[in-house]
Amino acid sequence: MAWASAPGKVILLGEHAVVFGEPAIAVALDLRTKIRIDGRGTSIMVNGEPLQEKLHLPHVHQALALTGEPWGPLDIRIESAVPRASGLGSSAALSAALIAALQEARGLKPQPRDVARLAFEVELAVQEGRASPTDTSTSVAGGAVLVDSVKGPGLLWDLERGGKHWFLHRLNLAKPPALVVGHSGERAPTGQMVAMVHERVRRDPRDLQRIRSLGALAREGAKALSASDFRGLGQLMDRAHADLRALGVSTPRLDELVHAARKRSFGAKLTGAGGGGSIIALTEHPNDVAAALRTAGCDPIVASVTPRGLEAGA
Ligand code: PMV
Repeated sequence: MAWASAPGKVILLGEHAVVFGEPAIAVALDLRTKIRIDGRGTSIMVNGEPLQEKLHLPHVHQALALTGEPWGPLDIRIESAVPRASGLGSSAALSAALIAALQEARGLKPQPRDVARLAFEVELAVQEGRASPTDTSTSVAGGAVLVDSVKGPGLLWDLERGGKHWFLHRLNLAKPPALVVGHSGERAPTGQMVAMVHERVRRDPRDLQRIRSLGALAREGAKALSASDFRGLGQLMDRAHADLRALGVSTPRLDELVHAARKRSFGAKLTGAGGGGSIIALTEHPNDVAAALRTAGCDPIVASVTPRGLEAGA
């Protein structure tokens, strides 16, 4: 029997900007996807139910192909506490854990950089080439990760694809912040939002300015996070939300949730691709923020940053 587990994530700063080579910061959350693989049997179960073909099968197919087919009959059990399609990196956690569990099943010891690279390949194939390695690398590394197009201190690994080069760095966290995630109940495919922003930036130089501003906020945020300056980090998050809004990726519902969360937070913003999905709030009062979000009609998740990235064994 082989097993692996990997956490979900949130992007604190730099979404969309990272697609243009600007930096982004993401943190791993204490919500995990766990996988067990048995050599016997031929079933794939997700949270006790048979696998949903559209949601999980493309990831399973890609992971099997990337870990060296042919595979005999396999019994794969997936248990995930990461909510799907919420901007919390559920597919990245699935890809990373699946690759590592399959490597364990082959008798190999999964290497973090190698799993990060292969899990990114899975995401690229499933999302038709529209993905940065932020989610998958954060899931593998755990803790806080800075993604940049240039190399800096704390380098974990680098990844190249289609003429783009990403450097993944460890950000040290003395005291991990509390985060509250609120889902808007709206959904928009990441690829569609990325394409929309590309089009806007091509047409309007003010949108390119906003991308640069989001990158600068992420760079400052990396310093604030490393210094445990949550007040400063919260202010940067508020400013990033304003830029994301001006870029056209927020929605009235996301704005409403951000507004509700801010009263008891250092800062709050949409996280991930936008057009729906989730907001995050950085706070010392997670229960108050959760209550405010509940009043605003959503079902919040109080999460903390976990230093535990990919884990695997046999
Ligand atoms: O939808 P999410 O949480 O995976 O975030 C997408 C972040 C983008 O910067 C918009 C795209 C990317 O691949 O980095």
